[in-house]
Amino acid sequence: MAEENLPRPAPVPHQRRIRYRGKNPRRFEDKYKEHGRDPETLAKVIASGKTPVGTHRPILVAEILAVLAPQPGDLAVDCTLGYGGHAQEILARIRPGGKLLGLDQDPVELPKTEARLRGLGFGAEVFTPHRSNFAGLPQVLAANATAGADLILADLGVSSMQIDDPARGFSVKLDGPLDMRMNPQRGQPAAALLQKISPAALGELLVSHADEPNAATLAPALAGQTFTTTRQLAEAVRDGLPRLGKADAELTVRRVFQALRIAVNDEFSALDALLRNLPGCLKSGGRAAILTFHSGEDRRVKRAFADGQRDGIYSETSDEVIRPTPEEQHANPRSTPAKLRWARRA
Ligand SMILES: C[S@@+](CC[C@H](N)C(=O)[O-])C[C@H]1O[C@@H](n2cnc3c(N)ncnc32)[C@H](O)[C@@H]1O
Repeated sequence: MAEENLPRPAPVPHQRRIRYRGKNPRRFEDKYKEHGRDPETLAKVIASGKTPVGTHRPILVAEILAVLAPQPGDLAVDCTLGYGGHAQEILARIRPGGKLLGLDQDPVELPKTEARLRGLGFGAEVFTPHRSNFAGLPQVLAANATAGADLILADLGVSSMQIDDPARGFSVKLDGPLDMRMNPQRGQPAAALLQKISPAALGELLVSHADEPNAATLAPALAGQTFTTTRQLAEAVRDGLPRLGKADAELTVRRVFQALRIAVNDEFSALDALLRNLPGCLKSGGRAAILTFHSGEDRRVKRAFADGQRDGIYSETSDEVIRPTPEEQHANPRSTPAKLRWARRA
C-alpha cells in the first residue's frame, strides 16, 4: 500500500500550555488555571504535600466519621462547610432519608461549594447550604423546622481556598490587600483595625489571640499604622524584631496574622456562642465534633465539653484530644496543628 493510503492516527488535540514566566506557575491565577484542568498535575501537587489552589483537603476524616457515626436518615449539620470535603463524606452516609445543613459565612466560596456538591449528585432533598455564621445555628435549625441534629461538625478557622487567594488578604506569603474577612460584606478589614487600635489593646490582642511572646515590642510598632497590603505588614513585623532569626521571624509573622484574623472575624465570640448553643441543637444521643487549630480555640472547646459532662448535659466526651497521624501531617502539613474533640448529648 502506498504510504499516502495508510490510515492516519487520529490527531491528538493540541493543548496550549498556560503562559507564565518560568517552569512552574507562581501566581495564584496561573496555579488556579493549571491545577483546574489537569488531573495529573493535581495528583502531583497532592503527592508533594501541597493543596491544589481552589481546593481544601479535609482533615481527620476517618476519625470524624468514627466519632459522628452518620447513618441513613440522620439530620447532620456542617457548621463550616468550606470546600465540602467533610460534608461530602457525611452526605454519602446519610442517604436515603437524611439531610445535611451546610453553613458558611463566606459568600465567595459558598456558591462554588454548592455547585461542586450538586455536581456530585447531592440534590436539594439531601443538602441545603446556608450562608450564615454558626453563631446563628439555632435560627438555621428553626428555619428548617428541625428540633435537633443527630450530628454537628465544626472545622474551625479558614479554608485553603481563602488562604491561597491573595485577594482575600489572609496570605503571609502572597501579597494582597490587608483584609482577612471571611465575610467581606461585614465588619472591618485588618488594615482598618490596625489603624484604629491603641498599642495597649493590640498588645493584649496579640497575647490573647496568638500567645505572642514579642507582643510588648510589636504592639507600639504596629498600632495606629497604615498598612494597605499583607506584605507591608509582614515586613513591619520583621523590621520590628531585627534580632530574631529568620525562622522565628516567620513564626512571629504567622502569629500576628492569626491574631488579627481572629479579631477581624470575631472568631472567639462565634465559637463561644456555638458552644453555648450546641446542647440545645443536638437530639438526645446526638454527637458533636470540633476541630481546632490553636490553643485559644482548643481551651474553649475543652472547657465547654468538660463543664457539660459535669452538669449532665453531655453523657460522654473525648478523654484525650485526637491528633492527625504523622502520615497525615506529612501528606498534608496544614493538618499539623489540628486537634479534635467530641461530645455526646445526654
Ligand atoms: C477549615 S474550613 C472548613 C473546611 C471543610 N471542613 C472542608 O472539608 O472543606 C473553615 C470554613 O468555615 C468557615 N467559617 C469559619 N468561621 C465561621 C463561622 N463563625 N460561621 C460560619 N462559617 C465559618 C470559613 O469561611 C471556612 O470556609
